[in-house]
Amino acid sequence: MLLKMILAMDLDGCIGKDDGLPWRLRADMLRFKRLTVGEGHNAVLMGRTTWESLPEAYRPLSERLNIIVTRNEEYSVDGAYACLSIEKGLGLAEENSSDICWIIGGANVYEQCRELVDEVHVTMVETNQSGEVRVGLFTEDNWEKETVEIIPADDQNEHDTTYMILRRRS
Ligand SMILES: NC(=O)c1ccc[n+]([C@@H]2O[C@H](COP(=O)([O-])OP(=O)(O)OC[C@H]3O[C@@H](n4cnc5c(N)ncnc54)[C@H](OP(=O)(O)O)[C@@H]3O)[C@@H](O)[C@H]2O)c1
Repeated sequence: MLLKMILAMDLDGCIGKDDGLPWRLRADMLRFKRLTVGEGHNAVLMGRTTWESLPEAYRPLSERLNIIVTRNEEYSVDGAYACLSIEKGLGLAEENSSDICWIIGGANVYEQCRELVDEVHVTMVETNQSGEVRVGLFTEDNWEKETVEIIPADDQNEHDTTYMILRRRS
């Protein structure tokens, strides 16, 4: 099973605002779905806060094994598995023969998984100070960066964005 991370951040590393996303970026949402669904045998692992931030109509995320991490032993929701640690969540994805387990946030979970992944799919949102939830920028020079697509702002995409793939240098 491959382990990959996917996130959208602004130039300051902001990823969230008031427990939601700070922006409306349709092209990014479509890419997120296309990549995380993949061939239809993938898992998505997320923190409990991110799960609760998903609009009800979109959860569980379709065609993906949804794994939530929480330290609350009582936590239970329809359509997703709750796991008490990231290791248990990854184990569950593996047991279900997932091709890829995508780490989909939020900040707390991204930071804990940073050293575990060799590939990070970043949508760089070309704006600043979007919100109070932040992650570290991937400035270390052990990441090789491939810019894949630049999408200008329009009526469905609030900001210019640059989609890039970061691969850990071995
Ligand atoms: N821009 C993006 O790409 C993107 C993607 C995803 C999310 N977001 C944003 O990020 C924000 C949420 O991020 P966040 O950092 O506040 O929360 P989060 O990472 O989504 O969830 C944190 C929660 O996950 C559980 N958790 C974390 N580590 C754990 C571990 N090792 N073992 C067991 N449980 C663990 C805990 O839940 P309990 O408290 O239940 O124990 C913790 O409170 C929202 O604003 C969301 O919109 C942005």
